[in-house]
Amino acid sequence: MSLSPEQHALLASLRWQIAMGADEAILEAPVARAPRAAPAPTPAAPPPAARPAAPTPLRKATPHGEAAAALAAGAMTLEALRAAMAEFTGSPLRETATNLVFSDGVAGAPVMVIGEAPGAEEDRLGKPFVGASGQLLDRMFASIGMSRTRELYITNILPFRPPGNRTPTDAEIALFLPFVLRHIALAQPRLLVLAGAVAAKGLLQSRDGITRLRGRWHQVSILEEKVLKAMPTLHPAYLLRNPIAKRDAWADLLMLQREMNDGGIGAQAKS
Ligand code: URA
Repeated sequence: MSLSPEQHALLASLRWQIAMGADEAILEAPVARAPRAAPAPTPAAPPPAARPAAPTPLRKATPHGEAAAALAAGAMTLEALRAAMAEFTGSPLRETATNLVFSDGVAGAPVMVIGEAPGAEEDRLGKPFVGASGQLLDRMFASIGMSRTRELYITNILPFRPPGNRTPTDAEIALFLPFVLRHIALAQPRLLVLAGAVAAKGLLQSRDGITRLRGRWHQVSILEEKVLKAMPTLHPAYLLRNPIAKRDAWADLLMLQREMNDGGIGAQAKS
């Protein structure tokens, strides 16, 4: 059955609400959303049996989140997705950023790297990972024979720089997640590399820290029931501050290289 763009948008909005923890469409009792005249008194009925409280959802669906999901779902190409993100007015980050930072590298490349958010250089140039972290990222991938001119496609969880490079909030991560998921679905990578805690938290929906998550493959559910393998690893900015941790990042890269070789996914492995 083929769906219209509107049906895709509705379905994506529903999936997004479920991902955010909205797992019930109705409540036990009706909710009065507008002020009404006081109802006539009725004979007191016994209170309904208490139901165990549902677990608190990780994050609540919001109107801006639904707008993001609808815009993302309506984008059928990467260019359309970039335009939809530029059109999205649901985040104040858009007002303080200089540029929308969408992607760099080769669309359709086997590996998609997802970082946190643009920094000052990225904001200025409109491209992800072009500052000091980006240079380290390039050197790390070059050491396993991969480059953003061939095997890599690169983006971030947030397309706008948070003022003062602060860490993105959970609400910001959730807000932009529909765009990230659509971005992955349209770019069609074979494997994901999640650079840092924000990307890992957003896509793995985990509260575990990056040091617990890294070093093994995880499954990420993308739109339309697609599941991809994802490797969380340490963010290059962290490695610049903690060079000793580079050995862990190196181990992660070797796992990526092995996966590429085992899966027959072309990268020129360096010995
Ligand atoms: N850090 C990120 O996570 N992304 C960038 O694009 C730059 C620095």
